[in-house]
Amino acid sequence: MALKVIHDPHELQAYTLSLFREGKTVGFVPTMGYLHEGHLSLFRCARRENDVVVASIFVNPTQFGPGEDFERYPRDPQGDKEKAESEGVDVLFMPRAEDLYPLDFQTFVEVERLTRGLCGAFRPGHFRGVTTVVTKLLMLAFPTRAYFGRKDFQQWRVIEQMVRDLHLPVEIVSCPIVREPDGLAMSSRNVYLSPEERQSALSLYRSLRKAEALFREGETRPQVYEQAIRTILESAPHLKKIDYIAIVDGLTLEPVDRVERGTLIALAAHVGPARLIDNWWVGVDSLDLPS
Ligand code: PAF
Repeated sequence: MALKVIHDPHELQAYTLSLFREGKTVGFVPTMGYLHEGHLSLFRCARRENDVVVASIFVNPTQFGPGEDFERYPRDPQGDKEKAESEGVDVLFMPRAEDLYPLDFQTFVEVERLTRGLCGAFRPGHFRGVTTVVTKLLMLAFPTRAYFGRKDFQQWRVIEQMVRDLHLPVEIVSCPIVREPDGLAMSSRNVYLSPEERQSALSLYRSLRKAEALFREGETRPQVYEQAIRTILESAPHLKKIDYIAIVDGLTLEPVDRVERGTLIALAAHVGPARLIDNWWVGVDSLDLPS
């Protein structure tokens, strides 16, 4: 089936409801575009598990705070269409901001506890924007399954919680982080980095590798991990600021006393003009790179 591009929310909803009535399963991948291998891995997963794959591209203004990168967020609609088509996406939803947020828009969805720490503490209102737009997109795409990458680990957990709390009829599937050959986690924001800043950005991956080595040695004290990670990050020349080094339970996202399987080690740091995040889900995800 050739790629069908839909801009109008009602047209998407009418189409996906007709698929539902026909008994077809729909896999949905919401994105903000500027597609990279991380997104494509979600498309492939959705392709394997569903009859029809719907993806969305929408740079959602409500999840960006004042002074963040909404205006300069990279966009490449034509390149994105080609990538989506070559990965077997059936429908690409590219709404206009005024259709998703008309002037009298006044309804938001908020998840409470899970959004207080990590990125939520540094980006007030961010998750409120994410959960609102994801709810709207789920109502329009009406998918059987929706796919999220674990680079945005907190986002995935928050959306899972929201879907459970609101009884939304969709299965949330999470997929592992996809990395560049040198370990840098794939992100549309990597495009902001100069070659020198990119070298500094590798310190995030290197510090997680160090955490992995500590775990193999049997280290369980969170403060030892934190200090080792901080030392590596702070030695990177273009690192401007560490937002957090969080050592938390992978389900509750609350700080832990002991690092063990299922702990999440999550980082956010500003390198040059880019705010980057990365994480290791201890004993669950692998930090190994494909050879
Ligand atoms: O992860 C993203 O790209 C965005 O936060 C999402 C889920 C598409 C909502 O705008």
